[in-house]
Amino acid sequence: MYQNDLILRAAKGDNVERVPIWLMRQAGRILPEYKATRARAKNFIEFVKNPELAAEVTIQPVDILGVDAAIIFSDILVIPEAMGLPYQMIEAKGPNFEKTIKSQNDINDLRIADAGDLDYVIQAIKLAKIGLNNRVPLIGFAGAPWTLMAYMVEGSGSKTFSQAKKFFYQEPELAHQLLEKITQSTINYLKAQVAAGADMIQIFDSWAGVLGHEQYLEFSLKYISQICDAIEPLVPVTVFAKDAHFALADMAKLNCNTIGLDWTINPQDARIIIGNGKTLQGNADPCMLYADEKSIEATARKMVNAFGKQRYIANLGHGLYPDLDKNKVKFFIDCVKGL
Ligand code: CP3
Repeated sequence: MYQNDLILRAAKGDNVERVPIWLMRQAGRILPEYKATRARAKNFIEFVKNPELAAEVTIQPVDILGVDAAIIFSDILVIPEAMGLPYQMIEAKGPNFEKTIKSQNDINDLRIADAGDLDYVIQAIKLAKIGLNNRVPLIGFAGAPWTLMAYMVEGSGSKTFSQAKKFFYQEPELAHQLLEKITQSTINYLKAQVAAGADMIQIFDSWAGVLGHEQYLEFSLKYISQICDAIEPLVPVTVFAKDAHFALADMAKLNCNTIGLDWTINPQDARIIIGNGKTLQGNADPCMLYADEKSIEATARKMVNAFGKQRYIANLGHGLYPDLDKNKVKFFIDCVKGL
């Protein structure tokens, strides 16, 4: 069905002739073509809500960088917004919510989002599928419930997310109610993404690393697990929990196909903890792409040797940084493809 289905085969554990590669945050940031498309929208949110523009930047990295999958251009924060918590994306700073979740009333006021609330993403997926024309698969995504809750309670980014964590200690019942509502919304949303054509789904738990092991199991993994149970029967699911190497043994029990790794864990250790039942994805430090080509090539080789060529999807350990050189990023991708 696809000219290139390497990533789907790798996710399912089928044999591949070479390692597939895509990069987190490949849609946007480093490409001048992205900046040109973005300039056609009033601001980030209008951009995300414009299916034609979103589909255009989804396809750019496939054309320009030669990655083995596209990821739909959107943001994890579309779910809080659809639930009734609007945000602004402040230039060079990040997201800001004018209202945050503090009480039972605030939680009661939240809606459980359904596909209709996020129709602009669904339309963007349909347009991206047409534009991709079966060249490579399309990845859909959502934030993990804990990571979304972190923004909804804190109101913005944070180094510690101490306000969001305070909620666990002071109002654990309410925290679970909130996580429950986010989880329901996310399942509705991801099912709609799959129905529109998303070929695989990645769950981003970007703030996993601020939780301790016990809290992680209770307030994050429990809900990720419900999402996996609902989505994995439909398409392959990847769970990327940044800085959560303490939970890899627990993640190995999820109903997911692939586990994404950040650069703080070495591939052999991850494989021993997780076992052979999952595909691994990752995990080069994006800062390595500031180095010269010789070092980039050596990193690519070392990484692929350490993971092995089967049951593996090459990627970075987190998203690309905006000031990385597009040519070096392309060089890294070509190195992996040449191995
Ligand atoms: O991966 C892709 O290329 C697809 C698009 C995508 C975006 N955000 C577009 C975006 C994806 C998968 C995301 C996920 C996302 N959004 C996460 C999880 C992944 C991660 O990096 O940990 C998180 C935590 C967010 C929330 C968010 N969105 C923040 C904190 C910010 C501001 C800071 C930043 O990272 O740039 C955004 C804005 C955002 N989302 C941009 C892009 C391309 C930059 C906006 C711009 O064009 O100026």
